[in-house]
Amino acid sequence: MLGAMFAPQGPTLRELAVQALSSVERGYDLLAPKFDRTPFRTPDAVLGPVTRAVRALGPFDSGLDVCCGTGAGMDVLRQVCRERVTGVDRSAGMLAAGRAAAGTAATAPRVEWVRADALALPFGPDFDLAVSFGAFGHFLPRERPQLFTQVHSVLRPGGRFVFPIVAPARPGSRAYWSLLAFDAAMRVRNALWHPSFVMYYRTFRLAEVRTELARAGFDVELQALPELGRRPDGSPRCRLVVATRTR
Ligand SMILES: C[S@@+](CC[C@H](N)C(=O)[O-])C[C@H]1O[C@@H](n2cnc3c(N)ncnc32)[C@H](O)[C@@H]1O
Repeated sequence: MLGAMFAPQGPTLRELAVQALSSVERGYDLLAPKFDRTPFRTPDAVLGPVTRAVRALGPFDSGLDVCCGTGAGMDVLRQVCRERVTGVDRSAGMLAAGRAAAGTAATAPRVEWVRADALALPFGPDFDLAVSFGAFGHFLPRERPQLFTQVHSVLRPGGRFVFPIVAPARPGSRAYWSLLAFDAAMRVRNALWHPSFVMYYRTFRLAEVRTELARAGFDVELQALPELGRRPDGSPRCRLVVATRTR
């Protein structure tokens, strides 16, 4: 089965295999031209509810999309920021694809795409909003405090770091076993093959993330995103983390 996966013009199984055996940066460089036709791009079904919730927190002047890829979060920022929208990503290929798809608009906000590691952001405290989608699995738990400190450092006092977080899969459910199998396969792959490809879905847990954000200097609130469904016990399947720079 070497045809396109996910969509007619999506990556082939062979292309996905080559990408999976590359480093994170090289893997995304290779995937970039077809990334928007994979399920790895954050879908509009998620971006819409997040945009509505973020708009209610605004208005904002300058927004940063951390690990922007081809620009899923840039679409959110363009709708809620008045002056400047910046995407930062380590993959030159993803940035080029995002830039090409976005084109150049003469109207505000000003849009820029910056190549950098999110663990070493090349900005001062310039932003009043930061968002991030679909990328936290690329950071090992021990790297997260630095990631959060970096985002904190580029926000103005009172600035907001906002991202959706999905409730953990119910133990024994299909999603639970799929994620467990994916993480196990990734750990085996990384034990046997270099360069490593860090993508662990199960390590980004709300309780730990909350504590780490607080340590980095954020005040953390949660908002339900009811449009994204409920779990069998009635709790929201997805929440918005709203972390405000308080110091
Ligand atoms: C799954 S994609 C998500 C892209 C986009 N945010 C979305 O939701 O569609 C993950 C992105 O994170 C980027 N990335 C991973 N580690 C990074 C790092 N340390 N610094 C900057 N970007 C990183 C990758 O290059 C890739 O573009």
